[in-house]
Amino acid sequence: MLWSKDDGRNTDDRLMAFMAADDVVLDRALFRWDVLASKAHVRGLQRIDLLDADECERLIAALDALDESFAAGEFVLDERYEDGHSAIEAYLTAQLGELGKKVHTGRSRNDQVLVATRLFMRDGLERLADACAETAGAFLKRAHTEMTTPMPGYTHLQRAVPSTAGMWFAAFAEAFIDNAQLARDTKTWVDANPLGTAAGYGVNLPLDRDFTTAELGFSRMQLSPIYAQNSRGKFELQAIGAFEQALLDVRRFAWDVSLFTTAEFAFVRLPDIYTTGSSIMPNKRNPDVIELLRAAYSTIAGARAELAATLSLPSGYHRDLQNTKPPLLRAFTRGLAAVELIAAIATDLELDVDRMRDAISPAMYATDIAIEHAVAGTPFRDAYREAARSGLDAARTPQESIAARTSPGSSGDARLNVLEERLHIARGSRK
Ligand code: ARG
Repeated sequence: MLWSKDDGRNTDDRLMAFMAADDVVLDRALFRWDVLASKAHVRGLQRIDLLDADECERLIAALDALDESFAAGEFVLDERYEDGHSAIEAYLTAQLGELGKKVHTGRSRNDQVLVATRLFMRDGLERLADACAETAGAFLKRAHTEMTTPMPGYTHLQRAVPSTAGMWFAAFAEAFIDNAQLARDTKTWVDANPLGTAAGYGVNLPLDRDFTTAELGFSRMQLSPIYAQNSRGKFELQAIGAFEQALLDVRRFAWDVSLFTTAEFAFVRLPDIYTTGSSIMPNKRNPDVIELLRAAYSTIAGARAELAATLSLPSGYHRDLQNTKPPLLRAFTRGLAAVELIAAIATDLELDVDRMRDAISPAMYATDIAIEHAVAGTPFRDAYREAARSGLDAARTPQESIAARTSPGSSGDARLNVLEERLHIARGSRK
């Protein structure tokens, strides 16, 4: 152990195993970020003359080699190490001897895990934003082509008014633009550097924290060392919140698709690659992937609850905080995988245009009729009664109703160009 004492008063294997749990395996997701932050720390030490230029370069070269070897699967992070942090120090010491032992000067595993997690979240939120923007783009494309394709509009799952497939797609386009923006805003919110706060109370060194902040591309420094520790889990919670929003819309879309692919609706069809067979019923093609996309929300919500429960702690570092890692990694991994599937499904979904049009029954024009009477001068409440009394108008077509729906955002004035502009902004600076 890094912290083993020479007096022999060390803990036993069973206790060690309990404390470590699967931490070292989870650290695989953070390891490259930990190595990156270690390089910044090493360079920072040189800037305050705790390492000379040659020592600094040798440490950096060894960290680069470790990163490559880990990425290539040669260096394996497993139970031989207590965690990823000790693995880095063990590697450097094995490679560089005495010099390797200098890497931990002025830092603690407490700020080390914080900074690695911060970098991981920043990257994950950027990927979430990109995936949401791509999803929004896929929905928007279909909104353009299907804006006048009739589809019933439901409230309470009861037929309500004529609507269009394009309006259905535009709803998800706008939702995922908002989700992309939220992911980016959340990324900005968590983009604060905790490196250099050590165990949570600073150290007796003039660490160049401005330098490491710039070196790691953070937009600001987390100043208070105590707050840096107190923000562990708090920032994770907010990041999971961004995933939660995106997964709410994934769940709703998956619900719609599972409903609309039933024989009862049959408005949409999933290409075969998205369906699976039944082990007993030869006739079945099941939308399992859609159902698991719907279920992905529960992974995120569960992770959020688990994380929030972990955070009932006084100020400063507590080993309880290690438990913030599993829910964070679980939420990010499952959440990203889910969102990254939606764009393709949105693109590949096949519409049964006839079924959708035929499901628009004459009674669904009642609202149009009432409003027409109101436009002609009848007070709306009377027009409403009149429309209810006069009953059905079999001669009307969905197309007329759809074209006349000119309230902004609706089929007659969808303003998809506004969504295109917002999407452009939500794609962010990298696009
Ligand atoms: N695995 C630990 C965690 O995630 C690393 C920090 C250990 N720090 C300590 N003081 N024991 O919290």
